[in-house]
Amino acid sequence: MVASRSRRSVLAVPGSSPRFIAKARGLPVDAFFLDLEDAVAPAEKDAARVAVVDALNEGGWDGRLRTVRVNALDTPWTYRDVVAVVEGAGAALDCLVLPKVTGPDQVRWLDLLLTQIERATGLEPGRIGIEAQIEDARGVSRVDEIAAASPRLESLVFGPADFMASVNMRSLVVGEQPAGYDVGDAYHYVLMRILMAARANGLQAIDGPYLAVHDVDAFRRAARRSAALGFDGKWVLHPLQVDAANEVYAPDQDDYDHAERILEAYAHATEVERRGAVMLGAEMLDEASRKMALVIAEKGRAAGLQRSDPR
Ligand code: GLV
Ligand code: MG
Repeated sequence: MVASRSRRSVLAVPGSSPRFIAKARGLPVDAFFLDLEDAVAPAEKDAARVAVVDALNEGGWDGRLRTVRVNALDTPWTYRDVVAVVEGAGAALDCLVLPKVTGPDQVRWLDLLLTQIERATGLEPGRIGIEAQIEDARGVSRVDEIAAASPRLESLVFGPADFMASVNMRSLVVGEQPAGYDVGDAYHYVLMRILMAARANGLQAIDGPYLAVHDVDAFRRAARRSAALGFDGKWVLHPLQVDAANEVYAPDQDDYDHAERILEAYAHATEVERRGAVMLGAEMLDEASRKMALVIAEKGRAAGLQRSDPR
């Protein structure tokens, strides 16, 4: 079962910046992550941990998914990040984001460390989830094992910036198509690998950032591509990108109403009339139609949509 928490817009917030943290409180995103990794300079890592713990404990995040991105396991910082954040603010934290995941052992390491901290501090066992960033050739080549590594996993997240560097992709505009490749979407393969691994393990699939933050039309174009494939949301870096992400990754109102009508008609057919196939207007419905409708209905409900059609 794909986790039903809404992650249409996932806001990146540098953990060392009180100004950005304060701004983030006012933005209508579904989720945010306070960053201890690439948006924080090495000399600021210690101070950022303290700022992140304070920001979580101070609250004011009403209903949004609260996550923190720790440093990758090829640095000396990861274990301190996890211990400081979870001991300091575990009750105010929903997930940890683990970047640059290259294999399932890294996810298991984080799962075990979380379990130890929960036991030592009396936090509810297993409540804190894990989001794994897939952002280099090694991560992509082991994405199926990574996706199955822990029951704490909630999502796989594409990291286009690190990925482009890892495969020598010829573009410096993160999330944009590389010039010279004009026969399709240069990210299609990796997005589909991530999506298949996520869906095979009941996880959400989240698209990464688009760095030309003032070009909202270009952001929308990139977001529409992954949303069309089935992705659940995308990172946002700037207030201008928030509404676009919330809109693109939610089903539109007509599709949502239609999906709820299919569920109603099919439930009536199977439960009351005991039939496996039924007509809804000119459309024939069967069990596969119910599953497709359920995906759209659940996304719509998670995004707060209400039925607008007469019943
Ligand atoms: C995000 O972490 C990225 O590398 O794009
Ligand atoms: Mg990255």
